[in-house]
Amino acid sequence: LFCLHFQFLLCDLMFFSCCTVVQSGGVLLGSSTILPCHINTNDRLSQITWQRTIKGKALDDVFLTIQPTIGPSYSNEKDFRFEFIGNFNNKNGTLNFSDVTLNDEGSYTCIFSLFPSGKQSRVSQLVILVPPITNLMDYTPLEGNEEVPLATCTAAASKPKADVRWIKGSLEGKVREELKETQHANGTTTTWSTLLGKPGREMNGQLVKCVISSEAMKEEILETNIQVHCKYL
Ligand SMILES: *[C@@H]1O[C@H](CO)[C@@H](O)[C@H](O)[C@H]1NC(C)=O
Ligand SMILES: *[C@@H]1O[C@H](CO)[C@@H](O)[C@H](O)[C@H]1NC(C)=O
Ligand SMILES: *[C@@H]1O[C@H](CO)[C@@H](O)[C@H](O)[C@H]1NC(C)=O
Repeated sequence: LFCLHFQFLLCDLMFFSCCTVVQSGGVLLGSSTILPCHINTNDRLSQITWQRTIKGKALDDVFLTIQPTIGPSYSNEKDFRFEFIGNFNNKNGTLNFSDVTLNDEGSYTCIFSLFPSGKQSRVSQLVILVPPITNLMDYTPLEGNEEVPLATCTAAASKPKADVRWIKGSLEGKVREELKETQHANGTTTTWSTLLGKPGREMNGQLVKCVISSEAMKEEILETNIQVHCKYL
């Protein structure tokens, strides 16, 4: 039984890495995903039960049952985002789960009630990916000898956290990066990276680029020209 279970998890991982929008092994917030559920047996199947363990719900919360003549019936909450797309006669309880949110992250188990062998189950892990909201802001410091912030690049509310780095061009060696991050209660992380340096007039107009990468999106590059207000004496 352990072996079967393990195999299924492996299949699941392979499935995630080959067939969803994002290659990394998660499901993009708001998109849909297949929750696979199938068994090969000659036993008689009387019911397929779907339960989940997610944050904010009791363990093993039953959300859907599928019976031969009645078909799928939703429990109290009636979450119609779960669509039964399998085939009871083929012992296939596969669901199409659409419009996933952060609260849906967790494990999903389908249980076959079989005669005479009893119950057998299959587990899928659902990991939700959230792309960051990106922004590049520049300051316009006055020319001077003190280190000040020149620009800040932000990757907000990303899951997993985004990587933020700079391509400093001609300012390489003259400026440094300072990274900050905050983790939010909903599991996302906001990352800020600030370029700091002494604002010299030779910096004015120089191009810098901020590179944001995350599992949930393609690499994004934001660019700006550093602005330094010159003092005219
Ligand atoms: C189970 O049903 C799904 C959805 O229709 C289908 O994609 C999948 O191939 C089926 N699995 C098997 C083993 O028949
Ligand atoms: C799953 O549902 C989504 C949203 O309704 C739909 O776009 C997609 O084609 C469905 N996939 C399958 C395999 O039924
Ligand atoms: C997660 O929490 C942050 C901070 O409160 C919020 O800005 C963001 O929109 C939330 N993300 C989702 C997907 O709910």
